[in-house]
Amino acid sequence: MTTTMFRSGVTLAVIAAVCTALVALTYRLTAERIVANEQAWLERSLQPALSGLFYDSGVTESKIIIPPPHELPGSEAAIVYRVYAEAAPVAALFVVSARDGYAGPIRILIGIDTMGVVTGIHVLEHRETPGLGDRVESTKSDWVKQFDGRSLLDPEPTGWAIKGDGGQFDQLTGASVTPRAIIKAIKETLLYFEAHSEEIFATVIPETDKEKTEQ
Ligand SMILES: Cc1cc2nc3c(=O)[nH]c(=O)nc-3n(C[C@H](O)[C@H](O)[C@H](O)COP(=O)(O)O)c2cc1C
Repeated sequence: MTTTMFRSGVTLAVIAAVCTALVALTYRLTAERIVANEQAWLERSLQPALSGLFYDSGVTESKIIIPPPHELPGSEAAIVYRVYAEAAPVAALFVVSARDGYAGPIRILIGIDTMGVVTGIHVLEHRETPGLGDRVESTKSDWVKQFDGRSLLDPEPTGWAIKGDGGQFDQLTGASVTPRAIIKAIKETLLYFEAHSEEIFATVIPETDKEKTEQ
């Protein structure tokens, strides 16, 4: 009787150990694939801010996080990807939130080269109204294209507004709130970059954070 109970106990323990090992293995295999997929998605979503630039691979590994409070748009942490060519800084890609969207914050990718010139804008996430504010998406219209090649010198900071407000940029018919929010966010990011570009490129990523990215 005791021997039978002992055998059953051992059998159950072996089954439990095998199941635990299988779950751990599955988790490890899936986690690696999820991280790889996320990395690929991220690399793809950064492309619109990298057009026309020659740069080294591994842009996503140069990520730094700027915690609040900061002078960038949005109250949450901002993300910056540093772009290099043969180890020399080429551009910084900011992921920030425009606060004053019609239906909430608008997450935007803003690429700025080392001369302070916009390399590309891409709206990543928003809740603006279909047919109105959502035309800021690059799949729906070319509206964001008008910022390519612009800087705080072109136009001067006072010109960073929609034409209806005396600025230089096109609005969207029947939807001025969304464009206003995005233009304000780009201008704030350009001003931040102008004041902090040296610090941004000088920031060293701690080894522990690099390991987390590489996992
Ligand atoms: C249901 C509804 C949804 C709207 N969604 C947006 C929007 O997503 N973005 C936007 O800029 N304006 C939106 N508007 C319009 C704004 O309230 C505002 O009238 C408009 O931005 C002003 O643009 P205009 O100065 O070109 O007329 C919406 C209005 C309504 C009634």
